[in-house]
Amino acid sequence: MPNHKYRIMNIVGARPNLVKMAPLIRAMRRIPDLDPVLVHTGQHYDYLMSQVFFEQLGMSAPDYNLEVGSGSQHEQTAAILQRFGELVRQDRPEMVVVVGDVNSTIACSLVAAKERIPLAHVEAGLRSGDRTMPEEINRLLTDAISDLLFTTEESGNVNLAREGVPAEKVFFVGNIMIDSLVHSMDAARESALLAKLELPRRGYGVLTLHRPANVDDADKLRAVLAAMVDIAGELPVLFPVHPRTQVRIASAGIEGMHSWDGERAIQENGVWMMGPAPYLDFLGIVDGAAFVITDSGGIQEESTFMGVPCLTFRDNTERPATIQHGTNRLVGTDPAALILHAKEVLREAGSGQNSVHAIPPLWDGHAAERIVEILHDSLQSGAARSCGAGL
Ligand code: UD1
Repeated sequence: MPNHKYRIMNIVGARPNLVKMAPLIRAMRRIPDLDPVLVHTGQHYDYLMSQVFFEQLGMSAPDYNLEVGSGSQHEQTAAILQRFGELVRQDRPEMVVVVGDVNSTIACSLVAAKERIPLAHVEAGLRSGDRTMPEEINRLLTDAISDLLFTTEESGNVNLAREGVPAEKVFFVGNIMIDSLVHSMDAARESALLAKLELPRRGYGVLTLHRPANVDDADKLRAVLAAMVDIAGELPVLFPVHPRTQVRIASAGIEGMHSWDGERAIQENGVWMMGPAPYLDFLGIVDGAAFVITDSGGIQEESTFMGVPCLTFRDNTERPATIQHGTNRLVGTDPAALILHAKEVLREAGSGQNSVHAIPPLWDGHAAERIVEILHDSLQSGAARSCGAGL
């Protein structure tokens, strides 16, 4: 079949998926007999959560948009199952590629597995051990039904082996999110947001919070933000607010933080709320920060790569390499402990103490090439196998 092109459906749904998918699609486009198709489930749909990422990552518009929008996670998952199921029945790809651990990841994986289409999971094997997180359920189930599992760090290989995934399905390829970061860092340092804020390098902190466990309960949210206001007595803290958190802050009536007007330089300490930051702006502000406080997964990895101290406001992490090798500290979910840790980081920085850190193995900007080579080989040998079977 000399002119045959292998059709691969690549799934994105939520903001971090876009960052992971961009380098993969670029690498697929460089191989002439691959035909990558981009499917957006529409789980994230606001300009600042989706479209601006396409623009800044240089991605072309999705070939299909399932437009599932908001709803409970069950409604979201059900709508994706139904709509992606219909799409796959009409336009049968030879492979489905999913990334990360969001509701779109598991929903599309389930369709692929039941339609008997080879399924590849990028960022496989991460485990927090905490089944109260929707993402943990999504990770466990996606890995259980994937044919090719691409891991980002050593813990992923260990977890998959423990769960009985055959070693020949698992490929340790490194971290694709770091591919995007490496690709974007020069542009990020030119960020318009960074320029407007006029904050000195290492003279401010960055905060992100969006996990249901931290933001959905008004009292817990109030307590962590009160701790942040305390920490921000020492330096300005930039807080790009996720839509989920925006709604919770408004309904809990939380005060004591400033809203940045989008224009003026910041000259006062305190917590400065702003809308969700576009990708390049976000990387730009993290790169110059004294610390990041977060409950996100990806930011633990990005800060490790950039060498910026990260305090993770959670009781567990599915990304232990960021602690073993990198700059991440797991501070738990006690606001008092968060204050102590943040002040310690500032003291260390003030006394010129730099904690020793390294970049985890294979976080080198080339994960996408490694993944695409393996996908290509697998498609070719799968095609060879099915030709053989027909003889
Ligand atoms: C999802 C992922 C999480 C990921 C995060 C990154 C799951 C289970 N969770 O969480 O792993 O870290 O994305 O952002 O998939 N909303 C908007 N505009 C948007 C998108 C969402 O207003 O563009 C609102 C939704 O209506 C909803 C809330 O934000 O009320 C949460 O969105 P949802 O997609 O359910 O989950 P996230 O909390 O974003």
